[in-house]
Amino acid sequence: MAPADHNDLSLLGSSPAFVAVMEQVSRVAPLDRPVLVIGERGTGKELVSARLHYLSRRWDRPFVKLNCATLAESLLETELFGHEAGSFTGATRRHLGRFEIAHEGSLFLDELANASARVQEKILRVIEYGEFERVGGRETIRTNVRLVAATNLDLPAEARAGRFREDLLDRLAFDVITLPPLRARPEDILDLADHFATRMSQELRRELFPGFAPRAQRQLLEHPWPGNVRELRNVIERAVYRMEDPDEEIEDILFDPFASPWRPRAAPGESVPSASAPSPTPASAGIAAVPRLPCDLRAEVERIEIEWLQTAMRQARFNQRKAAELLQLSYHQLRGYLRKYRLVGAESEDEG
Ligand SMILES: Nc1ncnc2c1ncn2[C@@H]1O[C@H](COP(=O)(O)OP(=O)(O)O)[C@@H](O)[C@H]1O
Ligand SMILES: [Mg+2]
Repeated sequence: MAPADHNDLSLLGSSPAFVAVMEQVSRVAPLDRPVLVIGERGTGKELVSARLHYLSRRWDRPFVKLNCATLAESLLETELFGHEAGSFTGATRRHLGRFEIAHEGSLFLDELANASARVQEKILRVIEYGEFERVGGRETIRTNVRLVAATNLDLPAEARAGRFREDLLDRLAFDVITLPPLRARPEDILDLADHFATRMSQELRRELFPGFAPRAQRQLLEHPWPGNVRELRNVIERAVYRMEDPDEEIEDILFDPFASPWRPRAAPGESVPSASAPSPTPASAGIAAVPRLPCDLRAEVERIEIEWLQTAMRQARFNQRKAAELLQLSYHQLRGYLRKYRLVGAESEDEG
């Protein structure tokens, strides 16, 4: 993470989808109720949770964060609820959990869907009654914490499948903030790109950022952005620092830093990495690898189609007729695919 990032909690965006969500954030922030933040990776869930805290009456109390996906069950439990000295081998001292540290403040639980059933049950009890015991302890601790939980999974579906407690979901879902992915707010893409590029230029002590040429703008608008704003930031910062002449506009965007003809092949059965680089021999990209079953055939085929469409578009420098030739499709067939997967930006509709 860039050093400048630590204090940069500003959320940028003026698209209708984004503005509507920010208004919802401002309205729910002052309420002392749990909030669930849902969104694909890189959509700003952590930034939104900080905003919920700093716009609440708890703003001058602790804002504590924990990622539930990075710790094994027992460690997650002691991190959340703390433990008493001697509660297990190596526990020489009492350890305060995040629920205790966040007293009178907010606790952000990232990737909550990954918490085990036992931890979910303990969390539910803290939300309902504001109390818990440290691991290995008998004393009941009271705490007053505003919980903000985030996930990129469909929690109601997780609950139906028995992987998430329905009652915890009900309690968390007092209000649900669903962040739009970047492809649902194309109006923001170039603004964000300019913002990240300017910031990176300043970091590199360059005078001025000359901007993106129309072709680079079109590439940015047509990219599907699976990693959303985090991916955009990386792509832009890389493009800026790699500029050969810092006074010339950026002409081309490199989306995949792994792109190289010498990239190692995926082992059979492994998922195929995103093939964004023009690869010298298409067959070497591992598409023909033996599939690992069971698999969702239609989803796999769609994924492969998207990858090859994007590869061909880039190799053809976004000329759709050339891309169609590369894929041995008619121009209209290619257009059909691009529309199906929304890989076509509005401004290139008339291009051929
Ligand atoms: N609307 C936005 N404006 C500016 N930066 C953003 C915005 N949304 C996300 N970011 C940046 O993108 C990166 C990912 O955001 P983060 O909140 O960690 O996403 P998530 O938790 O959903 O994965 C961070 O560097 C963050 O600063
Ligand atoms: Mg995150």
